Amino acid sequence: MTFQEEILQGIPGQLPEAKAYDKEINHAPKRKDILTAEQKVLALKNALRYFPKELHEALAPEFAAELKEYGRIYMYRYRPSYPMYARPVDEYPAKSRQAAAIMAMIQNNLDPRVAQHPHELIIYGGNGAIFQNWAQYRLVMQYLATMTDEQTLVMYSGHPLGLFPSHKDAPRVIVTNGMVIPNYSKPDDWERFNALGVSQYGQMTAGSYMYIGPQGIVHGTTITVMNAARKQGGSPAGKLFVTAGLGGMSGAQPKAGNIAGVVSVTAEINPKAAEKRYAQGWVDELHPNLDELIPRIRKAVAAKEVVSLAFVGNVVDLWERLAAEHIHVDLGSDQTSLHNPWAGGYYPVGYTLEQSKEMMADDPDAFRCAVQESLRRQVAAINKLADDGMYFFDYGNAFLLESSRAGADILLPDGRFRYPSYVQDIMGPMYFDYGFGPFRWVCMSEKPSDLQKTDEIAMRVLGEIAAHSPEEIAGQMRDNIRWIEEAGRNHLVVGSQARILYADCEGRTQIALAFNEAIRRGELEGPVVLGRDHHDVSGTDSPFRETSNIYDGSQFTADMAVQNVIGDGFRGATWVSIHNGGGVGWGEVINGGFGMVIDGSEDSARHIREMLFWDVNNGIARRSWARNEAARFAIEREMARTPGLRVTLPNLADEDLIRKNLN
Ligand SMILES: NC(=O)c1ccc[n+]([C@@H]2O[C@H](COP(=O)([O-])OP(=O)(O)OC[C@H]3O[C@@H](n4cnc5c(N)ncnc54)[C@H](O)[C@@H]3O)[C@@H](O)[C@H]2O)c1
Repeated sequence: MTFQEEILQGIPGQLPEAKAYDKEINHAPKRKDILTAEQKVLALKNALRYFPKELHEALAPEFAAELKEYGRIYMYRYRPSYPMYARPVDEYPAKSRQAAAIMAMIQNNLDPRVAQHPHELIIYGGNGAIFQNWAQYRLVMQYLATMTDEQTLVMYSGHPLGLFPSHKDAPRVIVTNGMVIPNYSKPDDWERFNALGVSQYGQMTAGSYMYIGPQGIVHGTTITVMNAARKQGGSPAGKLFVTAGLGGMSGAQPKAGNIAGVVSVTAEINPKAAEKRYAQGWVDELHPNLDELIPRIRKAVAAKEVVSLAFVGNVVDLWERLAAEHIHVDLGSDQTSLHNPWAGGYYPVGYTLEQSKEMMADDPDAFRCAVQESLRRQVAAINKLADDGMYFFDYGNAFLLESSRAGADILLPDGRFRYPSYVQDIMGPMYFDYGFGPFRWVCMSEKPSDLQKTDEIAMRVLGEIAAHSPEEIAGQMRDNIRWIEEAGRNHLVVGSQARILYADCEGRTQIALAFNEAIRRGELEGPVVLGRDHHDVSGTDSPFRETSNIYDGSQFTADMAVQNVIGDGFRGATWVSIHNGGGVGWGEVINGGFGMVIDGSEDSARHIREMLFWDVNNGIARRSWARNEAARFAIEREMARTPGLRVTLPNLADEDLIRKNLN
């Protein structure tokens, strides 16, 4: 059967051959046994509703065994037989080019070079799922292959509810992930609903088909590390940056460290994750032994080498050793998956990876205690190094939040965290408030030459804009131009021919229009998918991350993320998605995003102008209303050049006057 035939087949009528469990692949940890006996009946009944009744006798024992063995029903037997990677868009069987592009994006997310646990449909972050099981994948691909531009596919947490008639300007796909009633949004609720097969944690780009491998985060991480180093004064050369995680997103850290010009040391407990990043050239050296690593760090710092070192072991052992040896660390952070602390996101010190995996499934209470003890030790060592001058920042993984919940010494007497989040200090005031965010694109021809051409176009457009940029954003423009100039040389592509580039509304719009024009003229050999990380100006309401620099009390509201996606949906997005969770964890954040296929047409140009404008400026308007100065500057500038834009501006009250009247 050809690739195209297998896609069109959907869920086969006959039982496909069982697939062997591939031990070479990085598999998701066993999830905790959370369902009651009656709920297990429901989970099986839910799984079997994808299949004709005559197959139930064969599938029921298999699915029951998966639920027992892995805590979830993945339906491994239904993994497709073709290799998983994004093909050029014209190779997909499709009636809609937009739908074909979405198929390519889905397959790129599931590409084993890109996905963290590809056979469990987990893309990154330990539990960031694209689908809950392989039946959903097969059905979705079949729907996409057969739908027209006058239909919309409705997705509930990986499950395709179906195709509904719509119109050509409507999104082809609407995705919701993990949308639950707020009172049922605790981590164990995710475990239960996911085990029942009715909800999933879509992270940010995982559940919205927009993950492009670690490159997606390299740029943001580079900006963060560069600006963190600038905060410490002097040149980045010889500065030491210590962190953890070589997984999906965290795998970007060593590369970013090299681009920023520092010495970086990243701890990673899972040898498979460390070796994957080493093989891809994303980290320079692997060191399983601290006795060898410590002198290597000293040598690299003394020689001001630009090098990325990895410690294959537990980050707590690394921090404690650095503190004991009084090594001066300039910058510190952490990107373990603490948004998911009880189900494999964070591995406690003193246990091997395997011991931890067993404990989290068999004795979750003991595992929770071990994680919390580990966090208390980690924070104690970090505090010692911070006392000696290290600048430590939370990197958007709920490190401060979970450490405080663990009772670590991480709070100041007034209840604030001892350390800032990177959004409070860097990303918020310097980038998001001005509308700069992680714009990205993917060349649907899958040709490196197309990517190179888009890089050149973006470089030219940004150069033109920078020539008349106000002083307030000149530095950001310079860093972004440098990034795009060097992007090709840095070999950032893993999977699809994709690029990320921080840009503001003007930059994103002008670059996209220039791509559209290049497609129209045939200079690019295929359509382009535009998108972004949800981690952006307006995509995400997350009080401990994206909106941690909102200080008017509204950081716990989620109007912005919801409005953002609704607005994108009727202004020309090809697909939109809105998720509970992402970044800092289930119940802690609401985030949304979009994908837009542009094909050189007038319709595409209109969608670019209308949708990108809203997508950036609704968030700036909200940030301005929260009294953020940079956002006020940016929205006033936008109002001056855009007829029809009228935003409510805040009046600033005198704090002394208020206090006098309240006392
Ligand atoms: N700041 C941002 O912009 C940003 C972006 C993406 C992700 N994040 C957050 O960062 C976290 C990591 O994301 P990811 O996609 O890399 O997740 P991931 O699960 O793919 O990677 C985390 C890695 O940390 C390792 N790890 C866990 N505990 C460890 C320990 N004690 N010592 C050493 N290594 C340990 C794991 O083995 C894993 O490989 C998530 O919480 C995510 O939400 C932040």
